[in-house]
Amino acid sequence: MSGKTCLVTGATSGIGKETALRLAMLGATVIIVARDAARGETARDEIRRHVPLAQIETVAADLSSLAQVRRLADEVMARYDRLDVLVNNAGVISMRRQLTADGLETTFATNHLGPFLLTNLVRGLLERSAPARVVTVSSAAHKQARTIPWDDLPRGAQAGHAQTYPLSKLLNILFTVELAKRLTGTGVTANCLHPGFVRTALGRDVTGALGAVVRLVLRIQPGPATGAETSVYLASSPEIADVTGGYFVRCKPAEPSALARDARAAARLWALSEELAGLDPGR
Ligand SMILES: NC(=O)c1ccc[n+]([C@@H]2O[C@H](COP(=O)([O-])OP(=O)(O)OC[C@H]3O[C@@H](n4cnc5c(N)ncnc54)[C@H](OP(=O)(O)O)[C@@H]3O)[C@@H](O)[C@H]2O)c1
Repeated sequence: MSGKTCLVTGATSGIGKETALRLAMLGATVIIVARDAARGETARDEIRRHVPLAQIETVAADLSSLAQVRRLADEVMARYDRLDVLVNNAGVISMRRQLTADGLETTFATNHLGPFLLTNLVRGLLERSAPARVVTVSSAAHKQARTIPWDDLPRGAQAGHAQTYPLSKLLNILFTVELAKRLTGTGVTANCLHPGFVRTALGRDVTGALGAVVRLVLRIQPGPATGAETSVYLASSPEIADVTGGYFVRCKPAEPSALARDARAAARLWALSEELAGLDPGR
C-alpha cells in the first residue's frame, strides 16, 4: 500500500483503529477521521508506537452532521492530492431516539447518510486516483431488517431502537450496490462487509436485558484485530481489484438478505439520500 492514501472513519477505537493500524503497517498514508480531535490524536499516537514511521494524520468530524461532513470533504480535498481507499467504518447503536442538528435520527445519520454524503463529495478525488476502492462496514445484523419504512427512515419516529441499527446496516449494503453501479467504468470499486461479531465498544450504550446479553456474548468474541481482517482485505488485496458491488464475510463473498439485493430499493435509497443530504442529482 506504499504510495496509497487511505481514509478510515471511526478509527479512534475498535475495528476502525485496527484497520488504520494494519493499513499503516502495509505502508499506506492513513487519514483517521475522529469526531473528537483528542481521541483521534490518541489513536494516531498509539498507531505510531506500533509503526514508528507511519504516515498518519487526523481530521476531526462528526459524521452525523451534514455540515461537518461537508467540511471534512473540503479539508481532505484541500490537503490531499489523492485518495485510493475510503473505509466507511464509523458506526453507532443509539438506544434512545435522538435527533441530530439536521433533525435526523442519529443512527440513520451516522451510519448511512454521513458516509453517503462523504463518499459522494470525495468521489471525484477517488476517480482521479483510480484504481481506487470504497469499503463500507455493514453487519450481518442487516438480516433483522425485513422491510424499509421509507417515510420513517429520516426521523425514526416509528422505528424502535432495536430496528434502527439493523436498518442502517441494510442501507450500507443497498448504498454499496447502487454506488458500484454508478461507478462502473471509473476504476473505483465499492464493496461492503460484515466484520464478524467482535469485542469492541459498540454495544456500550445497549441497556437492559439486551445489553447484558450483548456484553456477555461480546466477552467471548475475538478482538478488533480479527474484525479488521475483511476491511483490510477489501482495501488492499490484489485478489479483488476488479470485484465490485459485493458483500463479504471472513474475506469471502457472501449472500446478504434478499432485501439487500433489491436493486429498486437501492435506487430509491440513493434518490432519498441525495434529497436529504442536499446533493444535486444532476451533478
Ligand atoms: N463489533 C461488532 O461486533 C460489529 C459487528 C458488525 C458490524 N460492526 C460495525 O463495525 C463498525 C465499527 O464498529 P466497532 O465495533 O469497532 O465499534 P466502536 O469500537 O464503538 O467504534 C465505532 C467508531 O465509530 C466512531 N463514531 C461513532 N459515531 C461517530 C460520529 N457521529 N462521527 C464520527 N465517528 C463516529 C467512534 O468514535 P468515538 O471514539 O468518538 O466513539 C468509533 O471510532 C461499525 O460500523 C459497526 O456497525 C461491528
